Amino acid sequence: MSTVTIIDDETGKKVQMPLLTPTSGPKTIDISMLYKELGYFTYDPGFMSTASCSSAITFLDGEQGILQYRGYPIEQLAEHSNYLEVCYLLLNNKLPNRLELTEFEVDITNHTMLHEALKSFFSGFRRDAHPMAIMVGVVGALAAFYHDHMDIKNPEHRKITAHRLLAKMPTIAAWSYRFATGKPFVYPRNDLNYTENFLHMMFSMPSNDYKPSSLLAKALDLILILHADHEQNASTSTVRLAGSSDANPFAAVAAGVATLWGPAHGGANEAVIRMLIDINESGKPLQLFIDRAKDKNDDFRLMGFGHRVYKNHDPRATLIREICHKLLNEMETTGEQQKMLETAMALEKVALEDEYFITRNLYPNVDFYSGIIFLAMGIPMNMFTVMFAMARTVGWVAQWNEMISEPGYKIGRPRQLYTGPIDLKYDSIDKRS
Ligand code: SDX
Repeated sequence: MSTVTIIDDETGKKVQMPLLTPTSGPKTIDISMLYKELGYFTYDPGFMSTASCSSAITFLDGEQGILQYRGYPIEQLAEHSNYLEVCYLLLNNKLPNRLELTEFEVDITNHTMLHEALKSFFSGFRRDAHPMAIMVGVVGALAAFYHDHMDIKNPEHRKITAHRLLAKMPTIAAWSYRFATGKPFVYPRNDLNYTENFLHMMFSMPSNDYKPSSLLAKALDLILILHADHEQNASTSTVRLAGSSDANPFAAVAAGVATLWGPAHGGANEAVIRMLIDINESGKPLQLFIDRAKDKNDDFRLMGFGHRVYKNHDPRATLIREICHKLLNEMETTGEQQKMLETAMALEKVALEDEYFITRNLYPNVDFYSGIIFLAMGIPMNMFTVMFAMARTVGWVAQWNEMISEPGYKIGRPRQLYTGPIDLKYDSIDKRS
């Protein structure tokens, strides 16, 4: 076993820590005994150098711009697979054979309905509620309906819960939109595939026939594949931490939805479009916005740029960019959408030639183009992060299941570097200033 030796310069004490070797990626120092051996914590806010767990689900290499699900390169899955097959792969650590895939698809299809009582839960929100606020609430509320399958130590309960969450997220997402826009809820249909069903629940109306576009359904399926999992990102780490207390998976996934909402994370796709609209409406040169993004006194950031891990291109952004061009070329789009795409491409070009972005390895990430595609699909801005949550649910559940399946997993309980006061004397209120 390789080790790393840590020497305490104050005491001269030496401690050898095991150096763990991954299948791929950086070697990792196992510091779990550090506090016991040396009495010290490690300090790593933002977890820039910390592996919070071991996992066999998704591999990223930020330097090479590599993303693989269960060892399969994202480019191959994007070209040959579909979202439900990728879900099976992430959950079961193998690509399904034809029978396994058919059984999986049937099981997901048969769980797309929500309990009828949940409909009134939606009506408790104001009409202008952000669909993410509705999704956080409804996903957490699912726990109230499935007490019969909540023994998280039971693999069968974990399996049915995973399938229920995967199956119901499109219904919850679509109904969040329908409620927020005052339209009647549309029930799922069992004769449509996963993304066609979502488009049906989003856009069909009782007053006319609606046939989901196969072009849009295929493009959406590809986008869901690209967003399915991404190692230990903020929302996945939240799901793991919440799940480590043995909280039920619906509660843990609801916590993940809440975390994804932030504009520094999954909320960036909505923030990108708002930024592009602001740029277009301002009539000012792009360079002005580039300069603002570089100005430390200005909190403006180029949304859709930069990534904690990818210091080369985000492979998903490359694939989504291609979908964006293909879709906008094949669809009738509004002038505003074309203008948005042109601005995005011009912004990308200017930024990638600018020293500030080059030296900081700031490339377009997965959120930079996805919003343009969602707009072209007729999906409103406040639904973009809901789309991301719908896609990422399988990643959250697969990571949660991997943790819960590990014998002897522990509750996550980080320590701190305390910088506050100590041992103060309590003064009665009359003596205080
Ligand atoms: C997602 O983790 C995941 O895997 C997430 C995700 C997933 O699939 O789960 O990939 C999805 O969240 C993608 C990221 C979406 N967010 C955005 O597009 C928001 C804009 N990007 C930034 O907020 C930022 O780049 C982060 C949050 C994504 C990453 O931030 P880091 O790693 O903490 O980097 P940092 O903030 O320390 O920035 C390093 C430098 C700083 O400048 P200096 O202090 O070195 O001078 O780069 C600058 C930052 O100011 N910088 C930017 C910038 N992003 C970083 N400057 C201008 N515009 C930006 N977008």
